[in-house]
Amino acid sequence: MQLKRVQLIYFSATEKTKCIGQAVAKGTGLPVQEWDATAQRASNPFESDVQTLTILAAPVFVGRIPQPFLQRLQQKKGNGPAILVVTYGARASEDALLELKKEASKLGYLPIAAGEFVAQHSMACTIAEHRPTEQDLKEAEEFGRKAALLAQAMPKDRLPVLEVPGQDPYRSHNKVAFAPTANKNCVECGRCADRCPVGAIPAEHPNKTDKQKCISCMRCVFVCPMQARSIGFVEKQLIYHKIRKLCDENQPNRMWFAELQ
Ligand SMILES: Cc1cc2nc3c(=O)[nH]c(=O)nc-3n(C[C@H](O)[C@H](O)[C@H](O)COP(=O)(O)O)c2cc1C
Repeated sequence: MQLKRVQLIYFSATEKTKCIGQAVAKGTGLPVQEWDATAQRASNPFESDVQTLTILAAPVFVGRIPQPFLQRLQQKKGNGPAILVVTYGARASEDALLELKKEASKLGYLPIAAGEFVAQHSMACTIAEHRPTEQDLKEAEEFGRKAALLAQAMPKDRLPVLEVPGQDPYRSHNKVAFAPTANKNCVECGRCADRCPVGAIPAEHPNKTDKQKCISCMRCVFVCPMQARSIGFVEKQLIYHKIRKLCDENQPNRMWFAELQ
């Protein structure tokens, strides 16, 4: 299959997934179009076709793919080969790749390769703080290069079969109990309200958080120019102590490629 372009579709609250997705896209050597599906009102600007290689990239949130990402992907039918990418904070990716693979297939994409990459933990930032490293990004590029070669070499009459880790039924959605709030440094500029993926921060009162809607993705903390938003000190310590012993920040990235049926 002759490929003409790559479209990178990502959800990335603190931009680690974006960074790794871009490295994978670069490795394909094809012209790249990006769709940032993190924004609340993001709408898909692309029509994919069989000559488009699509990269679907998302962070792992409590062992799953963030649901707003999947909802946004459903705006358009998929087409052509797809590379699946998840990033996770050195604990575990659990069912995320399997969930992404099933959703991608349902939409009409042909998943041909999948990778899980370790990145700084966005809730407990001292975990895997240094990831992705230069070496991680090189691995992501090399992964993109190999996946593009595989997609181009794939005969039309044989279906790719891609095995990825994970279990269905997936682990249930466990909402993180802590939502970021604003402190007195908040100047109500509204940047966080504008960038929140789920509309949990009212535009007219950006120093408030709707805890029901919040998915604790840390986007507001990341984009605040005044460093006014955070989860509380005690909450941070609780999270850190709960997950620290479960994380191995030196673990390798892992990649899988489809076999032909
Ligand atoms: C709400 C939430 C849940 C998370 N759950 C997991 C998890 O189950 N396993 C893990 O290893 N990392 C987990 N992480 C860490 C992120 O997957 C990781 O930091 C990711 O690279 C963030 O991507 P981003 O920078 O594109 O937002 C979680 C982070 C958040 C904010």
